[in-house]
Amino acid sequence: MCGIVGYTGPKEAYPIIIKGLKRLEYRGYDSTGVALLNHGLKVYKKKGRVAELEDNIVGKDLHAHIGIGHTRWATHGEPSDRNAHPHVSASGKLAIIHNGIIENYAQLKQELVKKGYSFTSDTDTEVLLNFIEEIKKNNKCDLEEAVRVALKRVVGAYVILLIDEDDPETIIAARKGSPLVIGIGKGEHFLGSDASPMLEYTKEVVYVNDYELAIVKPDELILKNLGNEKITPYVQKLDVELAAIEKGGYDHFMLKEIFEQPQTIYDCLRGRLDAIAGTITMSGIQEYADQIMDANRIVMIACGTSWHAGLVAEYIFEELARINVEVEYASEFRYRNPVINKGDVIIAISQSGETADTLVAIENAKSKGAIVLGVVNVVGSSIARTSHGGAYTHAGPEIGVASTKAFTAQLAVLTMIALKIGYEKDILQRNRYMHLLNGLYEIPEKVAWTLKQNESIKAIAEKYKDARDFLYLGRGYNFPVALEGALKLKEISYIHAEGYPAAEMKHGPIALVDENLPVVFVATKDSYHHKVVSNIQEIKARKGKVIAVITEGDDSTAAMCDDVIIVPEADEILAPMLSVIPLQLLAYYIGVAKEYDVDKPRNLAKSVTVE
Ligand code: AGP
Repeated sequence: MCGIVGYTGPKEAYPIIIKGLKRLEYRGYDSTGVALLNHGLKVYKKKGRVAELEDNIVGKDLHAHIGIGHTRWATHGEPSDRNAHPHVSASGKLAIIHNGIIENYAQLKQELVKKGYSFTSDTDTEVLLNFIEEIKKNNKCDLEEAVRVALKRVVGAYVILLIDEDDPETIIAARKGSPLVIGIGKGEHFLGSDASPMLEYTKEVVYVNDYELAIVKPDELILKNLGNEKITPYVQKLDVELAAIEKGGYDHFMLKEIFEQPQTIYDCLRGRLDAIAGTITMSGIQEYADQIMDANRIVMIACGTSWHAGLVAEYIFEELARINVEVEYASEFRYRNPVINKGDVIIAISQSGETADTLVAIENAKSKGAIVLGVVNVVGSSIARTSHGGAYTHAGPEIGVASTKAFTAQLAVLTMIALKIGYEKDILQRNRYMHLLNGLYEIPEKVAWTLKQNESIKAIAEKYKDARDFLYLGRGYNFPVALEGALKLKEISYIHAEGYPAAEMKHGPIALVDENLPVVFVATKDSYHHKVVSNIQEIKARKGKVIAVITEGDDSTAAMCDDVIIVPEADEILAPMLSVIPLQLLAYYIGVAKEYDVDKPRNLAKSVTVE
């Protein structure tokens, strides 16, 4: 949710931290702040964006070789200067930044108030800091020990970074539930919620696990568990280039990521799909192929856009592999007492790999004996490390808060898994298998063709940007695409939009239809098309404005619509990877036309690491 950065070493800490916060701003942008240690603690923080803080502290004393920085997504306490991180302890000697939620903070606060503590903010984080300081004082111990003792009493999720005036080279960090990466440099260390703040300085990183505590000095990194036992850091090499996290000349990351999809889908297929030999190689799936083939059911667990990918996959798995699939909202699945049997196969779908609801849901399922396979984009993320096996989506860093390229890459991976299992189960005949394999191989090119509709989609966006509501409709494989289109528009343009199975309309939503309501149909040629055409006529009969995504050459459908966006012909199983593209662009251009920050939409964050 929030973004955290830390640095200790010979370089100037402030520029490294500010740059890192800008890279992490997609994680939360309600307020920001830095704490620097140089002959005393200096804290600068402010409501709003990193750039606003930067302008605000020009000319201040920013010289230091150690510091921590935070960009916030507010959970406890409204966005304001006083609730911004870092927080300083009652003694003025300790500073903390935190990503997560301390669920028992009210109880800890009461204990501290009884001891005479008062608080300058409404945050759970300031309570935790003073709780740590109280232990440090009472137990006459160092900060590391005080943090260890305190965390044994804490309930909730956290990554915390602390610095102490009395120990001017050390950052104490700890993690449970939220992500923490430590970058190893020559005589320096970097800390971040992900690797983007350190990518330009080092490719050597350590992913910190739950219940681990790090003692970080310029030339030393010690990892320990809460039992005070040392853990050998597992150093991994990053396989990402800096350019991947730059805008590359595009106005927004969202537009760049939409236009990256021909390449990202190709990268997702590369080395896995051989359309000539007719093979699909996915080692992280192959290992569990028997369990998947023998599974009575597959439970897909995810949130948001990833949940929509799961819904498309439900249709595909049932069609190609004849396995019953249930698609679950992770947040509901984890609190409902779902029936999980030993050997059940869970597929967890997540771009960030850090979504708390999904992570906790699969930890529960795993503890009940289920096989957990992850379909994840961020390498080394918690869901990837918690899963038994799975497959990365190789879409590269996705910075725009609205997920785009990760969605089509998720569909590509899930389709490959269903094809593989369906063929190995002898459900799928060779010719149908080869037809779909070759169709999948052609998708990157067809996406590139679809992206050429860019200008006409921009014009349609301009036409409907002032609409108060939108309805998105589709049938079969295109129903989840309609849901995804509606979600994109909501996220980016703040226009109320709903997605529905087209046939469901007659059971209520059609009451919304009048000449002011744009209705977006995902109406590519498929086995439901004739039915969708009737639905379009029902909307036209009530003067609704119809925008339809149709297959190239479908002139009869085009003739009944107010606006159409054309995509190339593809098998109905593969078409969602094409029909979603115009919906991504439509949302993008409406958001831009309304002059909203499409990369950082209000109230949202890229990775939801709290429940
Ligand atoms: C999608 O545009 C949103 N950013 C959001 O719904 C997202 O899909 C959801 O939070 C799940 O995230 P994940 O894929 O990283 O788990």
